[in-house]
Amino acid sequence: MTPVVEAKDLRQVYKIRRGLFKDPALLQAVGGVSFTIEPGRTLAVVGESGCGKSTLARMVSLIEKPAAGTLSLGGVDAVDPPHDQRRQLRRSVQLVFQNPYGSLNPRKKIVDVLAAPLAIHTDLGAKERADKAREMLAQVGLRPEQASRYPHMFSGGQRQRIAIARALMLQPKLLVADEPVSALDVSIQAQVLNLLADLQAKYQLAYLFISHDLAVVRHIAHDVLVMYLGLVMEQGPRERIFARPLHPYTQALLASTPGVGSQQRRIVLQGELPSPLNPPQGCVFSTRCPYAVERCKVERPPARPVDGRLVACHFAEDFLASGFPEARPVDNRPLSAQAA
Ligand SMILES: Nc1ncnc2c1ncn2[C@@H]1O[C@H](COP(=O)(O)OP(=O)(O)OP(=O)(O)O)[C@@H](O)[C@H]1O
Ligand SMILES: [Mg+2]
Repeated sequence: MTPVVEAKDLRQVYKIRRGLFKDPALLQAVGGVSFTIEPGRTLAVVGESGCGKSTLARMVSLIEKPAAGTLSLGGVDAVDPPHDQRRQLRRSVQLVFQNPYGSLNPRKKIVDVLAAPLAIHTDLGAKERADKAREMLAQVGLRPEQASRYPHMFSGGQRQRIAIARALMLQPKLLVADEPVSALDVSIQAQVLNLLADLQAKYQLAYLFISHDLAVVRHIAHDVLVMYLGLVMEQGPRERIFARPLHPYTQALLASTPGVGSQQRRIVLQGELPSPLNPPQGCVFSTRCPYAVERCKVERPPARPVDGRLVACHFAEDFLASGFPEARPVDNRPLSAQAA
């Protein structure tokens, strides 16, 4: 089966201006991420604020070109697509954002919001477009007669249903959802997540699901990609990662999420996130990792296969064999001082 998405070593770098007389600094927002998503499957991307989740979402949804790496959608090169496939490619991936109100035009009736993509991309008549819009409203659990209302007449959860409906109007293969339920009450979150799961099963949609919330991710993901400062820390099947995280960062994230913490030792994330303009030299997590030793501070571990997933930690095998030991306070003194 051709995967819906295949990304290899995707990277994004931003130039940050530092005033008139200095060269711009380079900020690596995503530093080499690879994955595939098959039809009907969900890859969840998790990590703290600023780790590059939205940047990855923008590359995969063709809003930004990657600085390096390859991306194909349905087997078609999406970085430099053949001219005659561009339109089709754009239709095949749609985005849903965190804030559904901001992304819905307040002056347009819902029926027109939903029909708009059809007017651009198909040659259906006005009546057919409106009919399809009403059908789609029913698909997302709203009543067809609500079609003539305006966005402000809906609740947050309903507006997110409308945003999902709009994204599905052109029958995409891939939905990129960037924190789609983060702004919703927990009870409403569950309803929208269930809707997404139903739609996925019905249309065999692939999802790239971005979230900082592991409780949500556990609910919806088939595969999980844990990012930190633009790099993959751990990546693999959800069951493996939730049952037995092997990267100290994953372990810390899990331990800090109520209700999903594994039976293992709790690690509390210490210290502040380093600046992405000046990331730690060795393992990027080493400045906050309770298990970091000298090697971690000088040698960056590549993500490599351990126990059915990828882990970017020098000691993943040890953690697999004997669990996470007692956490030590993080020691961020210079190496020379630590040796003394
Ligand atoms: N257009 C841009 N220009 C410069 N830097 C950017 C740009 N977009 C993102 N960045 C930087 O790239 C890094 C990754 O940002 P990104 O928005 O992808 O993170 P995120 O994981 O989505 O965070 P959040 O959870 O807060 O949404 C951050 O350091 C951010 O400041
Ligand atoms: Mg973001």
